[in-house]
Amino acid sequence: MKGIILAGGTGSRLYPLTKVTNKHLLPVYDQPMIYYPIKTLVAAGITDILIVTGGNNSGDFLRLLGSGKEFGDIHLNYTYQEGEGGIAAALRLAQHFAGEGKICVILGDNIIDGGIREAADAFRAQESGARLLLKEVTDAERFGVAELKDGKIVGIEEKPEAPKSNYAVTGIYFYDTTVFDKISTLVPSRRNELEITDVNNAYVQEGKLTYSFLDGWWTDAGTFESLARATRLAASNAGLDLSEA
Ligand code: G1P
Repeated sequence: MKGIILAGGTGSRLYPLTKVTNKHLLPVYDQPMIYYPIKTLVAAGITDILIVTGGNNSGDFLRLLGSGKEFGDIHLNYTYQEGEGGIAAALRLAQHFAGEGKICVILGDNIIDGGIREAADAFRAQESGARLLLKEVTDAERFGVAELKDGKIVGIEEKPEAPKSNYAVTGIYFYDTTVFDKISTLVPSRRNELEITDVNNAYVQEGKLTYSFLDGWWTDAGTFESLARATRLAASNAGLDLSEA
């Protein structure tokens, strides 16, 4: 299974931190943000990785990461997103890289405590379809939210005002190769993006969307508050309590 890290976007919610650099190059405790999703994939045995970037600073990823040898025996690949368009639009650029195989997609600002190996193995064993990683949260309205019935996902709503559950859809997704057909049928949402939630709902329609729960803490890092939280949590994993610093 190959891995895809989506690391484009304007990072507008972090302006002016993102005025001269890409969000995924900002520091989270002692490492650039992009290091975390790379390590998450590598720890799950996913070592052929495509990084999708965009904007003026995309060359900085190559300067920072190079061949990726600092992360072990891995293969880093890069592609460039022209303009904006949402998560699903960025993912579309990975079609050639993915070929006919299964993929694990991770949003470059999703930082986790534990691993995804069990979920990855479950998806390797899954014949077809997609698999999500869910996390129980107290601020579900910030995320894609899964509605569960009889242990199955029956629908996902993107940033609902009145969430039907507390289960956020994290930015770690497993897909079979039909994901690209699904993306090609999407129309832009109200925020003028091709939504990954619409892709996931297409798998719900087919009865082929499974899920695992993510162990340990999870945070995105796309707002000032969540970036600070990511730094605090990453530091705590290194044994440092930043509230004491
Ligand atoms: C995106 C997805 C959302 C998901 C979240 C996870 O939101 O649209 O469904 O729950 O990532 O980080 P965004 O970061 O674009 O607001």
